[in-house]
Amino acid sequence: MDRNIISRKISVAPMMDCTDRHDRFFLRLMSKNVMLYSEMVATKSAIHGDRKKILSYSPEEKPLALQVGGSDKKELAEVCKIAEDLGYDEININLGCPSKKVQKNMFGACLMKEPDLVAECINEMVNSCKIPVTAKTRIGFDDTEEFDYLNRFILKMKNAGCKTFILHARKAILKGLSPKQNLNIPKLNYGMVYKIKKENPNLEIIINGGISKINEIKDHLKLCDGVMIGRSVYQNPYSLVEIEKEIFNTENKLTREEVAERLLEYLEKEVKLGTKVNHIMRHTVGLYHGKIGSKNWKRYLSDNMMARNSDFEKAKHIMTIVQNNEKSNLAIL
Ligand SMILES: Cc1cc2nc3c(=O)[nH]c(=O)nc-3n(C[C@H](O)[C@H](O)[C@H](O)COP(=O)(O)O)c2cc1C
Repeated sequence: MDRNIISRKISVAPMMDCTDRHDRFFLRLMSKNVMLYSEMVATKSAIHGDRKKILSYSPEEKPLALQVGGSDKKELAEVCKIAEDLGYDEININLGCPSKKVQKNMFGACLMKEPDLVAECINEMVNSCKIPVTAKTRIGFDDTEEFDYLNRFILKMKNAGCKTFILHARKAILKGLSPKQNLNIPKLNYGMVYKIKKENPNLEIIINGGISKINEIKDHLKLCDGVMIGRSVYQNPYSLVEIEKEIFNTENKLTREEVAERLLEYLEKEVKLGTKVNHIMRHTVGLYHGKIGSKNWKRYLSDNMMARNSDFEKAKHIMTIVQNNEKSNLAIL
């Protein structure tokens, strides 16, 4: 595959416990054009774990990237081959996660301190597969938030064969902050990302962190090649429909009712294969975010579809909630 064929103009961020294959199927119903990323998978899990469980996906989810965590170049190269064989469109290395567990295993944001090791890993990864190898990192760590450091780090990765960088525009605090705090406390510094793009016009620079509104997305796209959005899409998945319309000029959008219908077909198929109802429906809590009926939707989900042993029969009645919500929302137009 041509390494540059996929569009990363808008992507949904990799998020542990959120962007699993069911969530990605759901998101894809609302957007054909965004790039989707898996949750981070540790190299050892991808190599030795239950691959069907950890790495399988539905063809509808594509274009799809596998995000990997690791710092052993042989293992990383092996995961690249596995990802390529399974048909993933990209492999992304996680250089931004600050959690203690991840640091203990020497992957994630602590690798920003080891540019030579990262370059070796990327070189091995690029040589082991034909799909694009991309990196997702922070703009700094602890007391280091310097343009020169970040730029040198990026240049090393570029020389090793990486051409696409997703930059979470805040540094990582490796000691003293929880992963959750690390997503909010260090200040956003979009200017640093813009400067990296300006200095490196031939690299693909994707900006990430705290972006949700269409006008913000449009402004970032004037200075960067793409925008990656995480929490805001998870909380308000139907915002992808607006992104399709405003950014990709897509007109034929699915209504929430149509999204729910398609999801129920998927649910029925998956339940027959042994998937639990709550594993799929838990991702849909925000379908009516900001709309009339949001409370009814959430209540129905939590009363009927969030328990471990939730019954598929209950799913059939959810369309009544959906239809009532659609009527209420139409009535106020
Ligand atoms: C629940 C959760 C899980 C996350 N898991 C990952 C992950 O597996 N890999 C990763 O690179 N970033 C992960 N992140 C960080 C996001 O990819 C993203 O960089 C961050 O949320 C900032 O973007 P946002 O402000 O648009 O949410 C996670 C974030 C959240 C909220």
